[in-house]
Parts: sequence; C-alpha cells; structure tokens
Amino acid sequence: MEELTGEQVAQLHREHVMQPWHKQGGDVTAISKADGIYFWDYAGKRYADMSSLLVCSNLGHELPEIVDAIKAQADRMCFMSPAYATEPKSRLAEKLVEVAGADFYQRVFFTNGGADANENAIKMARMVTGRAKILSCYRSYHGATYAASNASGDWRRFAAETGGSLPGFVHFMNANMYENGYTRGVDDAEVTADYLQRLEEQLQYEGPTSVAAIILESVVGANGVILPPKGYLEGIRALCDKYGILMICDEVMSGFARTGKMFAWQNFDIQPDMFSFAKGVTCGYVPLGGVVVSKAISDYFCDNVLQCGLTYSGHTLACAAGVATMDYYAEHDVCAHVLEMEAILKPYLESMQAKHRCVGEARCIGLFAALTIVKNKETRELMSPYHDAHSVMPTIMGKLMEKGFATFGRESNINICPPLTITEEQLREELPKLDEVLTWVDENLCN
Ligand SMILES: Cc1ncc(COP(=O)(O)O)c(C=O)c1O
Repeated sequence: MEELTGEQVAQLHREHVMQPWHKQGGDVTAISKADGIYFWDYAGKRYADMSSLLVCSNLGHELPEIVDAIKAQADRMCFMSPAYATEPKSRLAEKLVEVAGADFYQRVFFTNGGADANENAIKMARMVTGRAKILSCYRSYHGATYAASNASGDWRRFAAETGGSLPGFVHFMNANMYENGYTRGVDDAEVTADYLQRLEEQLQYEGPTSVAAIILESVVGANGVILPPKGYLEGIRALCDKYGILMICDEVMSGFARTGKMFAWQNFDIQPDMFSFAKGVTCGYVPLGGVVVSKAISDYFCDNVLQCGLTYSGHTLACAAGVATMDYYAEHDVCAHVLEMEAILKPYLESMQAKHRCVGEARCIGLFAALTIVKNKETRELMSPYHDAHSVMPTIMGKLMEKGFATFGRESNINICPPLTITEEQLREELPKLDEVLTWVDENLCN
C-alpha cells in the first residue's frame, strides 16, 4: 500500500475522525513517528513531548523493552479470554499488588483504560457496602464513560448530565489553594481543617450511612496538578474510617512514578481501599487499566460474585506490555531518576514564577507540574475564566508548539509532565522555550 502524505492523513482525519472534546473539522497536525521524548510531523519538524502526550507515555516512545515484549507476545498469543489464566496477566497482577503493598492489597481487576477502571471501582464500592452514594471533587476528572463522567467534577461531565445526572453522584469542593487566595506552606493547616469540616458537614446532610465511597485523584491532574494541602488526604481517610465509607484514589494520571513514588498516594500517610490505574501501566503502548483492591474487598468477592466483566479484561498483549513496563520502572529505578529531574524542574518553574508577571503559581511534584497563568499577579485574576469558550490558552499552547515544545493546558494552566526518562540535558534544552513564551505572554496578555 502506498504511504499517505501528511496532508492526506490530516485531510482524512478532518473529514472522517471524530475529534474528542472539539468541534469537528478543525486543524490537526499529522504525526509520522515518535522516539524517546520526541515525535515528528510529516515535514520533519521535531516536538519534545513535554506532557507525555496525555500524561501517559511515562517511559517515552518506542522503548525497545516494551516494543519487544509486545512483539514476542504477539507471536505467541495476542489474546485469551478473561476466563483463563495467562502468564502476562498473572505476572502483572502480582507485580502491581507487590508495588502497592502486599500487606494490604490482594487482587487486581483489569479494564481497558482509566474511565472503566473508575466505573468498576464505583460498582465494587456499591456492592461491598450496599450503599449508593459516591462523593467526588468538583476539581477532578475521572473519565468519559457514564459513571466516570458523573463522578468527574469539571465541565467535561456536563454532556453526561444532559437530561439529569445519574442518581447517587454528589460533588464537594476540593481546595485550590492559589485560586482560593491562600499561600502554600503557610496556610495548609487552615485550608485542610476548613475543607474537611465542610466535607463532614456535607456528609451529615447526605446521610453518611448512604455513602459508599469517596473517590478522588491523589494529586489532581488534568485540572492543573493541584496538590492537596498538607493533611487533607489523611483527613479524608479518617472521615471514611469514621463513617464506614470506602476511599478510592484515582491514580490514572498520577500513578507509575510520575510523582517520584510508584503511586501518588504513597506520598501521603494513607492507604486507599481501592485505587484505579491506567496510562503509565503500559505507557499507552497497548491500552490497559484496572483497579487494585484491598484484602478486605478481595475477601468480600471470595464470598460474593464479582458482577464486573469486560471482554478484554486482562488483555494478553496489554498485560505483556505492562509486565515489561513494570520491570523497566523497577530495574532502572525510575522513581529515583524522577526525583533527580524534579530537583531541576521545580526550581526552574519557581524561578519562572518569580520572573514572569503571567505566572501566578508553579506546582511540581516529581515530573508532574503545572503553571497557573494569570492576567494579574496581585489580584490573581486568571488568564481565562473557568470554562471560557474564548480562552486565549490555545494561543499560548500554539506558541509553545511552534517552538517544538508540545504540551497541553486546560483552563489557565500549562502542564509540564515530560516522559520520566527525560535526561538533564534534554530538560535544560526545552525549558528556555517555555521562558520565551512566558515573556511573550507577559508583554501581550497581562494587565
Ligand atoms: C485522573 C484520571 N482519571 C481517569 C481518566 C480517564 O482515563 P481514560 O481516558 O483512559 O479513560 C483520566 C484521563 O485523563 C484521568 O486523568
């Protein structure tokens, strides 16, 4: 078959592909290849993948260890039904439980991605507790299937609520210290106490014995890498224990060494009853997700039928990719490397906050970082009001893209989440491009 040109690929896409979260038929860049932290368009322009695509290519592109594992598995057996045990699935489940902590966790339910991982975690919580309500944060995203959409807090849930939201989904406000006018480090205790007190009050009005689970991102990702104030997650855990509510951490974006720990919840003094994962488990080479469950939940389903299932649960090829990915994290001590890179990225972003009028706040944990872009630093007026259709943020992203610095930003945030394999040299080559674009923003978009 004759290869298409880049223009033909883009044209066919514009005509026939439904582009997620966009009006259809708009501009699209056709990508021809990817390698390491880079990908290239058909004109040969190189882009540094400074967001790990959708914060999933944790180990970069075309890593031979993962590619070879997929090829070897494809030659032997691409797929076997979930009814049977396969070596990749058994091995991957064991590795996930081990890394999570085999003293507390027991089993894994595999899914195809992050949304259905959360979907099934919610279903399990309802089965185990016999309760209906699911509490989740407004500043959150849990996926685009129906229950995951309804659990999500940002505007991407609105379409799933057309004609009414699903029964039992209740939202509460989680802190965004910067946007709420607080100073991180100084006001954490006050903010934690305040938000926990409001949540407990809300629980009283919902009736705590009707609440099955509280689901939340250990570190809020797509809504701007929002770090929980100190003590907040521990406080949620305590509230869950007090009222017999299950705690579900969504690790879909924050998991797999992104924060310098294998799972982001491990940065805090908590153990969720279940946590969902996807993205970094295979770095997207083959789609895979799942839920790791505690011994207690696992025991419940030894006596009761697990009413969850997917044709591709524990997909053989995906699990083979997962085993190779997990081995790479361990053998190359990726968490240690992330912390070394954090020691460069974090101070650099803080220096951007000090230097630029448009940078309200820099947040960074591991290689999970975002800048909040403001019109005015004194008033903390955001560059774009929440869910603003006329946002100028795409213009800013476009300027970065022109320089070969590819990332995404939502609302008034620019995400900086490069592959965890990025080297010091590569990081130092890319960051000045961000500095240049921020200077342009200072000069053209600030009050
Ligand atoms: C925290 C979180 N949960 C769930 C999802 C949904 O995952 P998927 O797109 O694989 O369904 C995402 C996707 O970005 C996410 O960031």
